[in-house]
Amino acid sequence: MSPSSNSVLVGVIGGSGLYHLDNLTFVEAVNPVTPWGLPSSPITICSLPSGTKIAFLARHGKAHNISPSNVPSRANISALKSLGVKAILAFSAVGSLREEIAPGDFILPSQVIDRTKGIRPVSFFDGTNVVAHASFGDPFSTKLVTWLESQVRQALEEEGRGVKLHTNKTIICIEGPQFSTRAESNMYRSWGADLINMSVLPESKLAREAELGYALIATSTDYDSWRPNTDAVTTDEVLKTLRSNADTSRHVAVNILENLHDAASKGDILTEAVGSMKFSIMPRSEGHNEEDIRKLSHVLPEY
Ligand code: ADE
Repeated sequence: MSPSSNSVLVGVIGGSGLYHLDNLTFVEAVNPVTPWGLPSSPITICSLPSGTKIAFLARHGKAHNISPSNVPSRANISALKSLGVKAILAFSAVGSLREEIAPGDFILPSQVIDRTKGIRPVSFFDGTNVVAHASFGDPFSTKLVTWLESQVRQALEEEGRGVKLHTNKTIICIEGPQFSTRAESNMYRSWGADLINMSVLPESKLAREAELGYALIATSTDYDSWRPNTDAVTTDEVLKTLRSNADTSRHVAVNILENLHDAASKGDILTEAVGSMKFSIMPRSEGHNEEDIRKLSHVLPEY
């Protein structure tokens, strides 16, 4: 794949506190209508110094008016795909379930545990007659995460605020909107979870169904509620760290995006998921419904 200056290959999804990127040239705002409705907010197309374009989407809306359970993830992923995006760098505020991951630290997780409650639409195939089972053993794009490790570390060092990066961690996604009880927080620790948020699912699952690369840059805001003799997490505590995490996230994004485009032209770090749904769709002897095919072609035009 060779990125041209016109293509929008990378989508950035900003989480709590990250509602825009800095030091990029604004090109236009677009609001694609998808079969699953409108995205959380209009998507900002910006250009990097080289002229390459990226797409930015605020997951909770620009005014943070969409709660995690109500994020229109199918519209978000479908809208990014419609712009030509091949891979998504998603930022999200997370709680820490481990002493060594302090508020303010950055993390590239490698695994996910699902504790959402089944109320979020989790599949593009829901409501169609097409049955598909995407592979999700490795929920994040392995090549993209490996590439990000050195790049994010370098960007954090350059920023000079001493922000630490952790890798190879497990994130548990809860439904919310309430934070966890102390008992739940301890149970998640006993399950092997290191981080907790309310947003990585179904976003990462839907990216996989749409054959988009997906990596999460998690930014720790609090110690959740497991620590004895420490106050349980509050929104106030989360908000305190959110602002400095967002500044660092903007620094990281702007510093790695150009390199990501260069690296993409030399290998498949953005396109690892392409073709992954080929053997996930169950064949039907009588064929698939035309209407379903039309709908699904928004995310899987190849099939
Ligand atoms: N997002 C940020 N901190 C969190 C926490 N402790 N639990 C769930 N989601 C979070």
